[in-house]
Amino acid sequence: MGTTTPVAGSPAARALRPARTVARWAVRHGMPAAYLTREARRGDLVARLLRDPVLRADPHTVHEQLRARGPLVGSALGPLTTSHAVASEVLRSDRFGVGFDWSAAPGPARWALAFGDDPTATGVAEPPSMLVVDPPDHTRYRRLVGRAFTPRATAAADPLVRRVADTLLDALEPAAARGEPVDLVAAFAAPLPVLVIADLLGVPTDRQEDFLRWGAAAAATLDPGLPLRRFLAADRAIRALHRFLAGHFARLRREPGEDLVSRLVAASDEDALTDRELHATVLLLLGAGFETTVNLLGNAVVLLDAHRDQRNALLADPTGWPNAVEEVLRFDSPVQITGRTVRADTELAGVPVRPGSRVTLLLGAANRDPDVFADPGRFDVSRGNARDHLAFSAGIHYCVGAGLARLEAAVALRALTERFPGLRVTGRPVRRDLQTLRGFEHLPVTLR
Ligand code: HEM
Repeated sequence: MGTTTPVAGSPAARALRPARTVARWAVRHGMPAAYLTREARRGDLVARLLRDPVLRADPHTVHEQLRARGPLVGSALGPLTTSHAVASEVLRSDRFGVGFDWSAAPGPARWALAFGDDPTATGVAEPPSMLVVDPPDHTRYRRLVGRAFTPRATAAADPLVRRVADTLLDALEPAAARGEPVDLVAAFAAPLPVLVIADLLGVPTDRQEDFLRWGAAAAATLDPGLPLRRFLAADRAIRALHRFLAGHFARLRREPGEDLVSRLVAASDEDALTDRELHATVLLLLGAGFETTVNLLGNAVVLLDAHRDQRNALLADPTGWPNAVEEVLRFDSPVQITGRTVRADTELAGVPVRPGSRVTLLLGAANRDPDVFADPGRFDVSRGNARDHLAFSAGIHYCVGAGLARLEAAVALRALTERFPGLRVTGRPVRRDLQTLRGFEHLPVTLR
């Protein structure tokens, strides 16, 4: 697109940074926000869901209104589905990809995209993050990281997860003894996955506060139409993470460990990652490794508090925990929305869809599709087919860390419930102000 990129870190790059940041915001968030606000005013249900905090608090009501219109509906975002069958088909088919097609975008938008590109600030939803890259590069990335997340490697993390859970629960004993309220997100649901993924990736766990702060700010970039102020906060957080990673990679080049990141840094065959790919891959693993699992844990605690009989049944028979985790993933999915780009002329649910257009998949709605799940609005930890949900997606982008997340949730929730059987949600849980991710920011509980 005719834009030359100054060398990262050079004086020219530094001088252009503010303008490039605003350009990136404008094309990725500012223009979509203006468009969605206009469409919401015109009554588009999906635009209202994304823009209106009241509707966002209870997305399922809107999901059901959309479902009533059919398996594929037109929306401000383009074709959209609430159907489990349609979402599965899209996720599993090579007629759809993850890369955005910018070729039909207006010239100024394409210019802003190229001008705004900045390797020192690339987020988890921008290439070369594997989330938004199609084969053959995607195949190469998955081959490299997949080895560290095989079922065997995941099972080997069991003692680590137990140790982390026990340490965090031990730290809660004094508050429990005094009968003091505790924010369970801050004290348990957030630190547990961050300590686990940091250990697995060989990054120093004493930076957990930094990771949590950076991760929370950066997670917002997954949402369409982020206001400039929040985008700038996310941009600062992502830059700080990249700076941290650059120092970390330099250390591992000098003193490699046994972990995945040391192997990625040292790889020298044709699979080896470029510096930019290395940053994108580790940033994604680190961020995805805790920003989603925290939501799963918080959502589970609130649901089990509201369904005490089911919680008591799990206390009596702990073999039910893995299925309970699946039911939480289905019922209150931590990742609510994803999308795919149509790669070739094709039909979906009998409707022609054009190459380059974007199909939006409401995973949270697909997971309550009555064609797959009987009485889908009922929370039932013994549901026979709970595991058929799409909370971890499907197809080639199926969550790399699904096994780890399942293990963490089953171990952590069992340990928490057995340690504090009298745990109650005592205050009003506060949802995170996010649309793509769904979970709690604050979760006040008493433990005994
Ligand atoms: C409850 C916890 C989690 C949920 C609900 C979740 C959900 C998802 C979903 C829905 C996707 C695919 C998005 C799409 O198809 O567009 C995904 C991809 C991914 N997840 Fe997770 N995830 C969780 C935990 C983790 C953990 C613990 C890790 C850490 C290893 C992780 C790493 C990844 C990576 C690297 C990808 C990209 C895979 C690819 O593009 O090929 N996730 N996750």
